[in-house]
Order: sequence, then C-alpha cells, then structure tokens
Amino acid sequence: MITVVGYDGGPLPDSARERLSRARLVMGGRRHLREVPLPEGVTTLALRDDPVAALTAVADEPGDVVVLASGDPGFFGVVRAVRRAVAPRPVEVLPALSSVALAFARAGVEWDDAVVVSAHGRDPRTALAVARSQPKVAVLTDERCGPAHLGAALRGRADRVLVVGERLGLPGERVVRVTPAEAEQGDWSDPNVVVVLPAQAADPGPRAVVAGHRGPQGWALPVAAYAHRDSMITKPEVRAVVLARLGPRLGDVVWDVGAGSGSVAVECALFGADVCAVERDPSDAERVRTNAAGAGVHVRVVEGVAPAALADLPDPDAVFVGGGGPEVVRACVGRRPARLVAALATLEQVAPVLAALTDDGTYAAEAVLLQVSALSPLGQGHRLVPANPVFVVSGELA
Ligand SMILES: C[S@@+](CC[C@H](N)C(=O)[O-])C[C@H]1O[C@@H](n2cnc3c(N)ncnc32)[C@H](O)[C@@H]1O
Repeated sequence: MITVVGYDGGPLPDSARERLSRARLVMGGRRHLREVPLPEGVTTLALRDDPVAALTAVADEPGDVVVLASGDPGFFGVVRAVRRAVAPRPVEVLPALSSVALAFARAGVEWDDAVVVSAHGRDPRTALAVARSQPKVAVLTDERCGPAHLGAALRGRADRVLVVGERLGLPGERVVRVTPAEAEQGDWSDPNVVVVLPAQAADPGPRAVVAGHRGPQGWALPVAAYAHRDSMITKPEVRAVVLARLGPRLGDVVWDVGAGSGSVAVECALFGADVCAVERDPSDAERVRTNAAGAGVHVRVVEGVAPAALADLPDPDAVFVGGGGPEVVRACVGRRPARLVAALATLEQVAPVLAALTDDGTYAAEAVLLQVSALSPLGQGHRLVPANPVFVVSGELA
C-alpha cells in the first residue's frame, strides 16, 4: 500500500500512525522526516535531494510505503507526482489541514470566495498578477515570491492588507496582519502563506461554486455602461472582437495603451486579468479610474505617454493598443506579449502596424475592418446608423 500522509503540526490520526508502523519505506521532506515520529529502523528517503530517484524508489518498493507531506498533499502537494510514479497502483491519501485553510482560519476569514495561487517552485508572474487583480487571494510562497515580493507588488495599494502566516501549526507559528509596505520591509520565516484581503471587509454574499474568480456575467457592455468623453470609447462590437483576440484570463497581465475611457481595460479586469491602463490625458485617466471603480475591479492607471510610460510595467501577456499607432505597437512588441491587438481609425496606420508585428517574424498577424450599423426607428421602420469603421489588427506570438 502506498499512503500519502499530510502533516500540519498536530498529532497524527490513528490511521496515519498505523500506516507508518507497517511501512518499509518512508519518504518526505527533510522537515517532515525530522518532526514526525517514525518507527525505529525504517528506511527513509528525503524527497528534495533527488525527487525523481525518490519517486522511482517509491514505485519500486514492494512493501508498504508512506510519503509524508505538508498540509493536504492533494492540494498543491505531492499526490500528483506519486500517483504518476506508481500508476496503475492506487494511492491512499490521509490529509491534514492545508496551510491555506489554516491561514484563513487564523485570519478569522471565510475562504470559499478566495483565489488560491501557488508560486512554489514556479514562475512568480501568475501569483503576483492574481494578488494584484483579485480581492481575496492566498499565495503559497517560495523564495522568489514571498511576503516581501507580494508587498512590493501591492505597493501603494491602500485597498489591500496582507495576513502572513509563518510556520502555521508548527513551533514558532506567527500570524501578522500588515500593510503592503510592512510586508515589503519585513523579515519572514519559512514556510509561510500570504493571504491578501480587502482593507475594508466586503461581503459578496454566499457562494455556490468554489472557483475563486468566476468571470464576468457579460462583456462588450453598452457604451452607456461607461463614462466617456465625446464618444471616445471602443464600441461594444469592436470591443467584443478585441477581447476575443486578447483572451484575458485570471493570472494574465494585460496592458491597455491609450486607454481612453478604459472600457477594454475594465473588461479585461472583469475577466480576471491584472490590468495596466496607460493614458496621457489626465481627465481620461480619471475616467478610467471612475469606470474601474464602477465595475468593482482594480485597474492600475498610469498617467503618461507611451512608449516611455511602459518602461516600469510588468511584462504583459496581452496588449491592446487603442491609441498610439505603429511606434507604440513596436515598443509593445519588444516586450513580447503572447497577443497584441490594435484598433486603428485610419487606413494609413494598418500597414505599418502589421509590419511592426511581423517584421522580425515573431508574430502571426491579421487585420480586419469592422463596420457596425445600429438600427434606429424611423417612421414605421428602421434606418441604419453607421459607426465609424475601425481596423482591428491582431498578432499572436508564432
Ligand atoms: C508545495 S506547497 C504544499 C502545500 C500543502 N499541500 C498544503 O496543503 O498546505 C508548499 C508551500 O505550502 C506552504 N506551507 C506549507 N506548510 C506550511 C506551514 N506550516 N505554514 C505556512 N505555510 C506552509 C508554503 O507556502 C510552502 O511554500
């Protein structure tokens, strides 16, 4: 029998102690092998030293094996790797409390509406993007994405607080509630979990689905849903195509360059993306803030002129260029987003923008002209009211 036993610092249940007493081999992290009482003389193997060799040893062991892991090993834990290594043999899992459940419990906050993201052993980009874009997030950390990095990513965000849970359930446990600045400056011990919460408690009501972020109820919302200046707003039908090509998702970083009213930025944020809106006109920048607040999403508004204003932004997964033309598109291409979409009002811009995308062969690009006419009542019938045609150029990293 192969049993994966979770450990949260509390006493092991009888079932786990019984499996350990029968085990011929016990594998786990060094900390677990040290802290969990093991039967005398049992062979132990530390997972970290050589995970592939350790999992092969588990697969090859004919006798009973116990794999020790932290918290609930089926939750960002070792179960997936063990299951793969020993297939088709079944795996028994005896979970303990997940560090995420413990962190929310210590904070005294429910978590069925939280997004959980792991930075453990992964590129921290996704965890940082989720921490910036979502109101309630738990982050499984590692040395490249700990409390200080998360604090830095949330610098200046008075709307967020962080609860850092260090060594939860273990000797030396510490749970503190800090501002992003305090998190950035603090010294933190491992292992730890960071919970990001709204500074003002919000109550979204009961949930039926645990999916963290569920996505927007609708998009390509009507012009009337947004504050705008003289109809300077990406029209809903154009926005629908733009969003489809951008494909904004939870964990993505999206730039809306030349944001105008910010309708594209807001809708990308509704899809769960971490959005930076770049706008040079201060009154438009203010409108982007108003529209984001109205939609209940966070959009980082950068008041400045692209391409200079793009320098300090996190690398994007997708970019919308609503204003700026070929020079701005070229600068964005230099940051290698997976997808780039530009909306252009003049025919003359199309060829240079296509060239900016395809010049060095890294993007596959296409361009379409979108012409929309709305039906408007006229006498007993309807007439067509045409909106300005818009060219939409989109490129995808080849
Ligand atoms: C590979 S994940 C394992 C998560 C585990 N399956 C769980 O349910 O807690 C490792 C990360 O879990 C978190 N973690 C594990 N044990 C912890 C503890 N006792 N206190 C705080 N965080 C812990 C840390 O963020 C650590 O980097």
